[in-house]
Amino acid sequence: MRRSAILGVGHHVPDKVVTNHDLAKLMPTTDEWIVQRTGIKERRYAEDGVGASDLAVPACHMALERAGLEVKDVDAIVFATLSPDVQFPGSGCFLQRKLGLPGVPAMDVRNQCSGFLYGLSVADAWVRVGQFRHVLVVGAEVHSTGVEFTERGRDVAVIFGDGAGAAVVGPSDRDDRGIFSIRLHADGKGAEDLWIPAPASRHMPRITHEMLDQGLQWPHMKGKQVFRWAVEKMPEVAREVLDAAGWTTDDVDLFVPHQANMRINQMVAMNLGIPADKTVHNIERYGNTTAATIPIGLSEAYAEGRLKGGARVLMAAFGSGYTWAGAVARF
Ligand code: UT7
Repeated sequence: MRRSAILGVGHHVPDKVVTNHDLAKLMPTTDEWIVQRTGIKERRYAEDGVGASDLAVPACHMALERAGLEVKDVDAIVFATLSPDVQFPGSGCFLQRKLGLPGVPAMDVRNQCSGFLYGLSVADAWVRVGQFRHVLVVGAEVHSTGVEFTERGRDVAVIFGDGAGAAVVGPSDRDDRGIFSIRLHADGKGAEDLWIPAPASRHMPRITHEMLDQGLQWPHMKGKQVFRWAVEKMPEVAREVLDAAGWTTDDVDLFVPHQANMRINQMVAMNLGIPADKTVHNIERYGNTTAATIPIGLSEAYAEGRLKGGARVLMAAFGSGYTWAGAVARF
């Protein structure tokens, strides 16, 4: 069976820069706390009226251009987000309309920080079996409208940022290039460790004034718990995909981990024995853009000349659900 490959990567972040000092004016936090605990210095916020699918449009154009393809070459869209434009329909449908691709299938995946790799796995399978030739895999998020700038919400509010990344997946033209392995995992026992409890279809009505007063519409996170799981599961799945590809960590030219916390990434890279100069970090500039972090990382690495033809790339993510995933690809 023909291998699939990532043919092009792109990204887009909003222009508005929000520093830690800006956030410290809104709630009790400090630049020192945020930098020490997370490594984040600033993040980007979208303007009012801009949804995840809007951020995705320029990211997709960039990915297609770098792949040497046009919009009309796209046969399917997989859109990963935890902050869809609206509850339904999926952001993939809005993106499909904005790109001008009537009739082309658009599917949303809801796997939070692991969403891009879950989407990549779907695209990889579709391309390998020949169902679709060129699949756009998108990770895009607008978090700034969904976090609480108060003492109660400050743990989450300081880490999330807005942004979008995209990859075009298509058939590989060489046996030694393409996606070599992807592995996906989930464990629902941590489902309430990072979640938004309401509005919820299991409540009648889905949201009440009382729920709003309790702040159930905001993300709630057990940060230390999530941290512990991330530093265990990311190296585990990284080794799993390397083994499946027959590679070792020495074969890795570039490690693109999910960007949730600089300390998590450093611990994961150290555990795997991957040096800092081979690891992509952009959390200091963007914070955690959940499903968008890996494609943004790939796209910036490409622009910086770190993702050259032949580069062996390891990707790993962990997030809400819990979900975690890894992939290795040769560009
Ligand atoms: O991408 C998806 C997954 N998300 C993650 O992977 C996040 C993983 N977790 C983390 O990155 C860390 O747990 C955080 C950065 C979120 C928090 O760091 P922590 O070292 O685990 O801090 P903590 O939650 O234990 O809080 C320590 C203290 C608390 O005060 P007390 O109880 O010691 O008085 C918090 O109330 O820091 C306080 N705190 C803050 N202080 C200033 C929490 N958030 C803030 C804040 N600014 N933004």
